[in-house]
Amino acid sequence: MGKDVIIACDFAGREETFAFLDKFTGKKPFVKIGMELFYSEGPDIVRELKARGHKIFLDLKLHDIPNTVKKAMSVLSHLDVDMTNLHAAGTISMMEAALEGLTRPDGTRPLLIAVTQLTSTDQERMEKDLLIKEPIDKVVMHYASNAAKAGLDGVVCSPLESQKVHDVCGKGFLTVTPGVRFADGDRGDQRRVMTPAQAKEIGSDYIVVGRPITAAADPAAAYGRCVAEFCG
Ligand code: C5P
Repeated sequence: MGKDVIIACDFAGREETFAFLDKFTGKKPFVKIGMELFYSEGPDIVRELKARGHKIFLDLKLHDIPNTVKKAMSVLSHLDVDMTNLHAAGTISMMEAALEGLTRPDGTRPLLIAVTQLTSTDQERMEKDLLIKEPIDKVVMHYASNAAKAGLDGVVCSPLESQKVHDVCGKGFLTVTPGVRFADGDRGDQRRVMTPAQAKEIGSDYIVVGRPITAAADPAAAYGRCVAEFCG
């Protein structure tokens, strides 16, 4: 899989999702399905989107004991998603078990990506709530290298971290980056943002874009602009 733009389908239900995706008459976009849509519609939403020809990043961020995560990942691999994820905080053993569960009998498997520290967790919360005293950027890179050691394919990170992740974990280790905005667009609640062209320049492998496409007057045109800037 090469560089691609993944649209974050942060919708409450299938009707809104399909009404949105019906606007795309050309290339079927790679889409991200998160907890809200998956928990409201169940696995059928994945089957329906696959049947419509979309690639799917199932963003469920698993985190449990290794055996439970292994079994859950096995279910997800049978759903035929293209990419899924977990929390690196679950430990290297949990990540290894996840990979085992995700690998199909023929040896193929979806890409498996780790979340390091959530961007909603800052230094203060990490120290006070989690009792982790190291600097947060060190923790993020440590979790990323744990994910690489476990054999995962990459991490979700800020585009600003892509270069460092590639330096620490290798060029082939994928960086999947949200926080993307057009130069002339609204930042919304995202703080550390980059344009699709900058994300390309800095070496992100995939960008995850929500509102700049979902809230655009012409979503297909906004998607086309992202693809042209990032993949062109
Ligand atoms: O609308 P927007 O482009 O901000 O959407 C970004 C998507 O990426 C959302 O689905 C959001 O939950 C997700 N995400 C993020 N920051 C992270 C991890 C995931 O914005 N650190």
